[in-house]
Amino acid sequence: MRRDLPRNLDRDAGVRGPAVAASSPAQAYRNASLWQRGRGQRLIAFAGVRPGELVLDLGCGTGGLTRQLAELVGPDGRVLGIDPDEARIELARRTAGAPNLEFQVAAAETLGEVARNRPFDLVFSNFVFHWIRDKRAVLRLMRDLLRPAGRILVQCVSSLPALVGELSRLADPSGERILRDFAFEEAAALAHHVEGAGLQLLRLEEQHGTHVYPTLDALLRWWQATTHDRFDPRTVEPAALSRFAEQHGDGGAFRVRETFCWFEARLAPAHSWGRGG
Ligand SMILES: C[S@@+](CC[C@H](N)C(=O)[O-])C[C@H]1O[C@@H](n2cnc3c(N)ncnc32)[C@H](O)[C@@H]1O
Repeated sequence: MRRDLPRNLDRDAGVRGPAVAASSPAQAYRNASLWQRGRGQRLIAFAGVRPGELVLDLGCGTGGLTRQLAELVGPDGRVLGIDPDEARIELARRTAGAPNLEFQVAAAETLGEVARNRPFDLVFSNFVFHWIRDKRAVLRLMRDLLRPAGRILVQCVSSLPALVGELSRLADPSGERILRDFAFEEAAALAHHVEGAGLQLLRLEEQHGTHVYPTLDALLRWWQATTHDRFDPRTVEPAALSRFAEQHGDGGAFRVRETFCWFEARLAPAHSWGRGG
């Protein structure tokens, strides 16, 4: 029996990121992404993962949620986590600790080769789709990996948070380039892609949340790690950074307000008819 995703948005406000101290960008990212992981845990609770299921975690990062999925499927199930960031996958492998858990370096766009002949009960993806340019093509690849009764659960950011847009533009000359790497799309566009990919949309919700960084340093490190080091605080003029801090610091803390959405989809009836079992 599936449970509803908790809906009290106010619970997101005040989730504080740590004052990150870490020796590599992958470790910094793991430490600084608590908010997104919390949202991912809610999505996992909604997914109603059952023992014995085969699960794909697309864009698994350092594998925190992938490990939770592996616990839920138990020894008779399997979980595959993929991510194009080698350092994150290496960290994920080092902390995997479960025989039913596998990690591979790969991007969503190559899913067909990576996971060929491995039908999944659940294809899960938390805060990755806003990096994916051709969402419809990736959704088709995800669709082709689903068992007939399988489901897809995706959560992603739908538009650029104003605060990090402003912060990124302070970086010279990389600011605008950093922002061009993202591929934000709003809920209506996602719905369109889902249906265009031969999937049936079961549920889609747009939500708002706030993550709080206790210091400017914590905000900078999180954004540097999130952008895979493309945002480099050393390229920002100190005077511009001070003005940014004065303008946006709230008792020394920084609030990133995000609009994000999540959806659940499965094979559209026309697709499942053509597939066995
Ligand atoms: C915000 S992190 C989320 C990590 C993990 N899903 C979680 O919730 O903790 C986004 C991840 O997406 C990965 N990513 C970016 N582009 C991708 C692509 N084209 N295919 C698969 N993963 C991608 C990044 O390397 C990064 O680890």
